[in-house]
Amino acid sequence: MGVALFDTAAPLAALHDELRAAIERVLASQRFILGDEVSAFEREFAAYCGAEHAVGVANGTEAITIALRAMGVGPGDEVVVPSFTFYASAEAIPATGARPVFCDIDPETFCVTADTVRPALTPRTKAVIAVHLFGNVAAVAEIAALGVPVLEDAAQAAGSTSTAGRPGALGAAATFSFYPSKNLGAFGDGGMIVTSEERIAEQARILRFHGSRDKVDYEQLGYNSRLDELQAAILRVQLPRLDEWAEGRRRAGRHYQQAGLGELVALPQPVSGCSPAWHLYVVSHPDVEHLEGALRAAGIGHKAYYRTPVHRQAAMRRWGAGIELPGTEQAARSHVAIPMSPVLSAGEVEEVVAAFRGSCA
Ligand SMILES: Cc1ncc(COP(=O)(O)O)c(C=O)c1O
Repeated sequence: MGVALFDTAAPLAALHDELRAAIERVLASQRFILGDEVSAFEREFAAYCGAEHAVGVANGTEAITIALRAMGVGPGDEVVVPSFTFYASAEAIPATGARPVFCDIDPETFCVTADTVRPALTPRTKAVIAVHLFGNVAAVAEIAALGVPVLEDAAQAAGSTSTAGRPGALGAAATFSFYPSKNLGAFGDGGMIVTSEERIAEQARILRFHGSRDKVDYEQLGYNSRLDELQAAILRVQLPRLDEWAEGRRRAGRHYQQAGLGELVALPQPVSGCSPAWHLYVVSHPDVEHLEGALRAAGIGHKAYYRTPVHRQAAMRRWGAGIELPGTEQAARSHVAIPMSPVLSAGEVEEVVAAFRGSCA
């Protein structure tokens, strides 16, 4: 039969009428950029995260660049970032004029920790980007206790929770991506900066609009980086369902455990105190290529997202050369994402685990 790596269609099936109504509402308003839908979604999303402010931007990559600049990062500064992440987490740093400094991760959780960040700190460190990878929630408070402001890259962690709060309420600021396959996905690109610091929110609002407060005076070099009304209206329909979808992802993770997958491969470990809304369910095995072959033969969707870590990508060579990151290399070598979605059934999980069992026999 086969099982797809993810399913963006089924969770939305029950929402088609509401989504059409939201699109019609925008059409009737004839307001397409920075109008009532964006303002309302910003309020609703900030409240969901447990933060004071949310600033809609064009995508999750520019959200990071703008948030860093709003936090005061600029030329001559260093920003610590994990190398085991999507490329954009690091790509957003040189765009501020600052230099990315790559740090390691804990390969069991795929997240940065205070211990992996500490060796990368220097007197020039202006911020640390804690990526909540695959929906896990990095230990932000422990990293902030090192004395450096933390920007949460929460692109993959909408719907996740931790005992300290939700992503978005843990660091100085957080950024989200609404890329269509994310836990909360738009019908195009979109992003958000969330913060409880008034100064950061104000700067982010200015920077997203050409460095201007009023379209008359231009006080900084900024960006044209705005979330548009259609995407905001579509996301407002989905936000009230995010917790239910997150629970579906957690339930699928529990099914994998109950079906015995942990006897065959290493399962992703939640960071202490965290309840991940698994964006991707990523398992590890020393002979992962053999397993990938078996999954392919059984029609099971799978993908190794970050086989080449960011610090070894050609465009990052000038900042990544000569760095040794053993946890990153281990994760890069041995990981593979397997099917995960809010609607992944116990039967589909059984089918995936059976393919693993066959390959391990
Ligand atoms: C961890 C991480 N950071 C940043 C981004 C960038 O987001 P976007 O694609 O919306 O620019 C993504 C997703 O694509 C991501 O997964």
